[in-house]
Amino acid sequence: MNFDLTKEQLMVQSMVRIFAEKEIKPIAQELDATGEFPWDIIHKMAPLNLMGMTVPREWGGAGIDDISYMIAIEEVARVCGSTSVIMAVHNSVCCYPIYKFGTDAQKEAFLRPLASGQKLGGFALTEPGAGSDAGAVRTLAVLDGDEYVLNGNKIFITSGSEADILVVIVSTDLSKGTKGLSTFIVEKGTPGFTYGSIEDKMGVRASATTELVFENCRIPKDNLLGEQGKGFNLGMATLDASRMGIAAQAVGIAQGALDEAVKYAKEREQFGRPIGKFQAIQWMLAEMSTKVKAARFLVHKAAYLKDMGKSFTKESAMAKLYASRIAMEVANNALQIHGGYGYTKDYVVERFFREAKITEIYEGTSEVQRMVIAREALR
Ligand code: CAA
Repeated sequence: MNFDLTKEQLMVQSMVRIFAEKEIKPIAQELDATGEFPWDIIHKMAPLNLMGMTVPREWGGAGIDDISYMIAIEEVARVCGSTSVIMAVHNSVCCYPIYKFGTDAQKEAFLRPLASGQKLGGFALTEPGAGSDAGAVRTLAVLDGDEYVLNGNKIFITSGSEADILVVIVSTDLSKGTKGLSTFIVEKGTPGFTYGSIEDKMGVRASATTELVFENCRIPKDNLLGEQGKGFNLGMATLDASRMGIAAQAVGIAQGALDEAVKYAKEREQFGRPIGKFQAIQWMLAEMSTKVKAARFLVHKAAYLKDMGKSFTKESAMAKLYASRIAMEVANNALQIHGGYGYTKDYVVERFFREAKITEIYEGTSEVQRMVIAREALR
């Protein structure tokens, strides 16, 4: 067993850390305040290969391993939750399923421009009545000649109003439940595809969480991804892989909050000395550091299993369950260490606290992760 990162993984870490510190950190607070989608940053991430990280080079990606990808998400999340989720969704739930389940023609048409960062990707599963119960999808696709006609709406879609290409899970047979779901690739600008409201959220405020509306939206039959009726399995397999990415995001947010807490503990003086000299603060920092490291190990283990071609469903869910929980705890303690100042928007821990919460919710709530882990354990 070797716990050291490889030369390539260290290079990715260093490159993304420098980029995140220089290009993202200075505007992260402003993005949070305005909710403006960070297109400038996304355009700068493309030439660094951050938008097609694990896609093989033959399809225009960087062809790097999943541990490197997790490291990259962590480094971006350490400074900005919004940018990290846009990146994670693009890579994990748009590029990945098209690469894994798409035909060569679909890869040529959709994956290549996504992986090179020319186009931005999204993923649409959730509906008003289909959250944790993902099989309750009611958006319907009916075959009509060479086209499917889509009707229904999706909610809470990350990058929804901005994405050029979306992987969308709908029903092709409402009577069959999960076995009636199918997945399609839908392009921005398709007639009948419009947007509803953009959510005014607590955190990750610049990630354009959007309602998608399909009204007699006709898409080519060839845009069916995988087999008709296998959309639920495709969606679950995609989420298995992507959940470790949200775990990496949670680790990044926790590390960012911890960094701020350490800095503040050294600077802030009370009772005649820096507060980091008090054991109460030291014990908090010790617990926080230990939990961040443990969460990172879970993320890297899940990614390692994926890299090795082994089963990673349980480990990905475990990583997300634990990392999101400790992100909340670490961000809370980082804020506590800042005292009253931490409750103001002048200090970045206030944003980390709000960003941490969503990692317990999207790509499956903590309760769903427990369901997945328990089912695997009882298998
Ligand atoms: N891979 C492949 N197939 C799978 C699977 C997996 N991981 N898990 C289940 N399946 C298959 C099952 O084998 C079963 O097939 P058969 O009927 O042929 O045996 C079928 O799918 C149905 O499985 P279940 O009975 O287990 O399904 P369920 O209705 O009980 O749901 C669930 C299970 C885990 C709760 C699932 O609904 C789920 O994950 N819900 C959460 C949804 C979610 O994560 N949403 C996130 C939205 S995306 C997002 O947040 C992105 C963003 O913007 C950041």
